[in-house]
Amino acid sequence: MKRDFRKSTVYQIYPKSFCDTNGDGLGDLRGVINKLDYIKELGVDYIWLTPFFVSPQNDNGYDVEDYYNIDPRYGTMADVEELIAEADKRGIRLMFDMVFNHVSTNHEWFQKAMAGDPYYKDFFFFRKGKTDGSAPTNWESKFGGSAWEYVEKFDEYYLHLFDVTQADLNWDNENVRKEVQKILRFWMDKGVKGFRFDVINLISKEAFEDDTAGDGRRFYTDGPNIHKYLKELNEATFGTDAEIVTVGEMSSTSIENCYQYAGRDTHELSMVFSFHHLKVDFMGNEKWVLVPVDFGKLKHIMFEWQTKMAEHNAWNAVFWCNHDQPRPVSRFGDEGKYWKESAKMLGTIVHCLRGTPYVYQGEEIGMTNTDFTDISQFRDVESLNYYQILQDKGLSASDALRIVQIHSRDNGRTPMQWDASEYAGFTAADGTEPWIGVNSNHIRVNAAEQLSDPDSIFHYYRKLIALRKELDVIAYGGITPLAEKDPCVFAYEREYDGHKLIVACNFYGKDYEWKGAPDVSGYKRVIGNYSAETTPENGVWKMRPYEAAVWYR
Ligand code: GLC
Ligand code: CA
Repeated sequence: MKRDFRKSTVYQIYPKSFCDTNGDGLGDLRGVINKLDYIKELGVDYIWLTPFFVSPQNDNGYDVEDYYNIDPRYGTMADVEELIAEADKRGIRLMFDMVFNHVSTNHEWFQKAMAGDPYYKDFFFFRKGKTDGSAPTNWESKFGGSAWEYVEKFDEYYLHLFDVTQADLNWDNENVRKEVQKILRFWMDKGVKGFRFDVINLISKEAFEDDTAGDGRRFYTDGPNIHKYLKELNEATFGTDAEIVTVGEMSSTSIENCYQYAGRDTHELSMVFSFHHLKVDFMGNEKWVLVPVDFGKLKHIMFEWQTKMAEHNAWNAVFWCNHDQPRPVSRFGDEGKYWKESAKMLGTIVHCLRGTPYVYQGEEIGMTNTDFTDISQFRDVESLNYYQILQDKGLSASDALRIVQIHSRDNGRTPMQWDASEYAGFTAADGTEPWIGVNSNHIRVNAAEQLSDPDSIFHYYRKLIALRKELDVIAYGGITPLAEKDPCVFAYEREYDGHKLIVACNFYGKDYEWKGAPDVSGYKRVIGNYSAETTPENGVWKMRPYEAAVWYR
C-alpha cells in the first residue's frame, strides 16, 4: 500500500528512554515492541527510532561504531526484525535514523585510519595544523571547544564537528559515499520504509579557513556539493522505492537550500527539519543564555517557512520538539495551572500546519522539563560541557546550572512516564535505577491516567492525528497567516478544493480579546481545547487562557 506522507504523522522514539523490559535501567527494542498498541492507538503512520546501532554511547548512539549490527544494550537483530514485522501488522512503518556526517572513533574505518592505512585516512579530514602548531582552523565543535583533535603520531588534526569521539566523514571521497549507499540498501532489504538523516546538510565541507565572523558553520553548512550528494544518494538507494519517506535534519540551514532538499520534483528528500523557530529563546545562535521566548519572531519564522516552502512546492516536517529540545509545554506553554490547555493549544498549532507533524515520545501526554536540581543528575555530553564552559567564562555554578536546566537536551530524555509507579513503569520497580532520573511529576503526568480520560492531552492528539486523515484541507491545502502582528494570537487559514479551515490559538495564559477575528458563521468547530464553544462576534473573539479552536467549512 502506498501511503501519502502529507496525510501521515510520525512518532519519534528515543529507545533508551522509552521502555526497559529487562530491568537494566536502559530502554530497549523489546520495549518498543511491547508498546506498539499504545502507538497504534495514537494513530500514527511511522515510528522514527533514534539510533540503536553498536555504539560506545558517548552521544547516546549518534556515535555509530557499526551500522550493520544492533547494540546489545538495545537488543538483537531478531528484535529489530520482529519490530518491523509487528509494526507492519499494525499499519505502522519504521523510519531509521542514519548518522552519516560522522562515525564513532571506535568504528573500524577510523581505527584503520589511526593505524595509518591511507585508504581509510582519506575517509576523514586529517589536516596539518597552522605553522605555529595550532589547529588548522578556529572552528568550534557544536558541543563546545575546538572542532579539531590533535593526533601526535601523524602530527595532524582530525575534524569533529560534534564530540571528539565523533569523527567527520569525508563525503568528497567516493568510497565513503559507496559505503553509505551499501548501509542504506542493507536496511531497505530488511523492510525499513523511512530514513531520517542526521545533520545531513553538513556533509559537504568547503574551504578550511578561519571564520572571523562566527564559529565556522558557514564553511560547512549547505556546502558546495550537498545537492549533488543527496541526488546521488537518492538515485542509488531510497529513490528506487516510491514507498520510502525521508527527512533530513538541516542544521542552521537556509530556506533557499530547503526548496531543493525537499522539493516535490528535486529528487533529494521528502521533507526537512529546520530549527530557526526553536532558536527564539536564544541570543542569535547562542543557546546557553536565558532569554524569554520572542513570540513575534516565532510566528514570523514559522509563517515564512510555511508560505515560502509552499510557494516552492517543498515540504516541511513540522514539530515543537525532539530528543535535542526542551519540552514544549515547559518552553512555550505552562507546566502549572494551564498545563492541559497549553499542551493542547501547542498541538493544535503544529498539527494543522502544512507539513508532516512529528510527535516526540511523551509530548502526547504533556511531559515537562526535568526537575533536576544538581548537575550530577544530567547525562548529556553537550550539557556537561557547557556547564563547565559557562563557569570558565565566569558564571557562578548556580547560574550555569540554571541555564543548563532550561536548555539541556536531557529535558527531552527523561524516561517515558507510563504510570504512577516508582520508575513510572519505564523499568520494573525491582529493576536497576533508570540511566537518567524519572521526573517526579509522573504521579500526575502519565500515559495510564490519560488513556482512561477522554479529555486528556493524549486523546486530543489522537483526534488531531485523525483529523489530518479526514480533512484533505489539512494535508493538501495552501496556508495564509492571520493576525500576523497580534501580540497574543497564533492563527492561520488553510484552503483546498473549496474547503476552508481556520485555526486560532491564544498563545498566553490570560483572557484575550482578539479584535479582527474572522467570521466563522457557516463553519463547524472540529476541535478545540475548551468544551464550551464560543465564536467571534462582530469581529471580536473573547479567548480564554491558551484557548485553541479549529473551524472547518
Ligand atoms: C543531531 C542529533 C543529535 C546529535 C547530533 C550529532 O543533531 O539529533 O542528538 O547529538 O546530531 O550526531
Ligand atoms: Ca533494557
